[in-house]
Amino acid sequence: MKIAILGAGNVGAALATAWSAAGHTVVFGARDPQSPKTAAAIGKLGLRALPPAQAAQASEIVVLATPWSATRAALESCGSLAGKTLIDCTNPLKADLSGLELGTETSGAEHVASWASGAHVFKCFNQTGAENMAGNLRYAAKPVMFVAGDHAPARPAVLQLARDAGFEAVDAGPLTSARLLEPLAMLWIHLAYRCGLGREYAFALTRRA
Ligand SMILES: NC(=O)c1ccc[n+]([C@@H]2O[C@H](COP(=O)([O-])OP(=O)(O)OC[C@H]3O[C@@H](n4cnc5c(N)ncnc54)[C@H](OP(=O)(O)O)[C@@H]3O)[C@@H](O)[C@H]2O)c1
Repeated sequence: MKIAILGAGNVGAALATAWSAAGHTVVFGARDPQSPKTAAAIGKLGLRALPPAQAAQASEIVVLATPWSATRAALESCGSLAGKTLIDCTNPLKADLSGLELGTETSGAEHVASWASGAHVFKCFNQTGAENMAGNLRYAAKPVMFVAGDHAPARPAVLQLARDAGFEAVDAGPLTSARLLEPLAMLWIHLAYRCGLGREYAFALTRRA
């Protein structure tokens, strides 16, 4: 698949690593493709950065891996994303990581859908640490990644991208399930930073035999 990732930070770089290894064509959408920070981030991956609109228009899948506060501007810089599959990895975190800016009766993903008119929005890759997204991790059980979105035809591709990043991909239903998946990310952060687990862990799903 052709994938544009908006944001070459922790999440964007990890997913690019996994998806390039899986044979996908990945390009970054960056507000300053020539900046030393972007060059340093993508140089070691051997990938290209383009202005966001160019990266998005050349791709079937657009991935949002920007800070929540920059997400609307990043989307606006892409122009129309109508008909594209848009995977939202963001979490609407408060600046001090103490909680979410919104939730329970809406979600960041639903805001994203309202900003990206006509895009097929999925929530995914928000529920675990970025270092768990680069593929090839050796956990005793496969880490789980939930996928939520409303556009049935695009769902298999998003589930496959989660598998390609090393996860057990689980369909969590409509985009409103992001109201559950964003607090799940908050739980991961809480356990990592406030309960002593650190970042070297992941959630897995197990079934009764
Ligand atoms: N870190 C994690 O473990 C983790 C896990 C799951 C989900 N998340 C979520 O994923 C998102 C990204 O997290 P991160 O840790 O990868 O962040 P990060 O390392 O700070 O990277 C953010 C990237 O977004 C870019 N960016 C900022 N404004 C932009 C714009 N208007 N247009 C295009 N790109 C823009 C930044 O580039 P420049 O500033 O150089 O332009 C940078 O490359 C956040 O919403 C976070 O809550 C993070």
